[in-house]
Amino acid sequence: MADSAPLLTSTATARVARRRRYLMCPPDHFAVSYAINPWMDTARPIDLALARRQWDRLRRTYTDLGHVVETIASEPGLPDMVFAANGGLVIGDRALGARFAYPQRAGEGPAYLDWLRGSGLTAVAAAEQVNEGEGDFLTVGDMVLAGTGFRTTLAAHAEVRETFGLPVVSLRLVDPRFYHLDTALAVLDDHPDHTTVAYTPEAFSQGSRETLRRLFPDAILAAPADAAVLGLNAVSDGYHVVLAEAATGLIAQLRERGFHPIGVDLSELLKAGGGAKCCTLEIRT
Ligand code: ARG
Repeated sequence: MADSAPLLTSTATARVARRRRYLMCPPDHFAVSYAINPWMDTARPIDLALARRQWDRLRRTYTDLGHVVETIASEPGLPDMVFAANGGLVIGDRALGARFAYPQRAGEGPAYLDWLRGSGLTAVAAAEQVNEGEGDFLTVGDMVLAGTGFRTTLAAHAEVRETFGLPVVSLRLVDPRFYHLDTALAVLDDHPDHTTVAYTPEAFSQGSRETLRRLFPDAILAAPADAAVLGLNAVSDGYHVVLAEAATGLIAQLRERGFHPIGVDLSELLKAGGGAKCCTLEIRT
């Protein structure tokens, strides 16, 4: 054995897909009728039929992978309701409802809460603090990564800590293009023994970058071009990663790390600042 050879040959972690349960909301009343993030331009037309086909394809991608997809009826007057990730946070048999930062989306909170209350979970609580569900709360291993800066408040991070009894790591978002944590960071492997995340450092404050480096020294760092097409707004089952097909650099990085990326085109939903993850709430039971 040559002197420089390692004593142990490290093999890449075997990736394991786990069956997931997702909640989605069809884009029946989807529109960009107000602008609450820099992606939204009310003057830019939306092709609603195309949005529906893209959303159907996303749903079929999940069911073809063996995941369970449930749906909630979309409500008129709530054009962003298609972004189910924002509807709450579900971990184990508990759920916390959302409380939206902008009045335009306020009505979605009770709509999603009703669904959660009828979903067979043991404890479903309405939120006291402003939080936008899995848009800003991502579960990884035994902790919750929590975004703040644009929507979800630090007080809501404390509320999640109390509600679920899990450590919550607060991360400060500083770039308005990445207004929710799930636009800047993707949990690829949530297993406590081999957590893997991908993120774009530019979205985070200096201190939060340092926190992420300490917690995830082997994270995939996405290039600005991949982050700019919301490539990090990805949904992983531990092996398959569903993400924007335009994020070609990130797709190559995922392959190198043993994941199986599946590209999707959600051009119409991107006009509201959303991608695959935004359309998907995991019912993490
Ligand atoms: N137009 C929506 C908003 O600005 C998009 C929400 C995207 N959802 C997400 N989980 N990032 O609130």
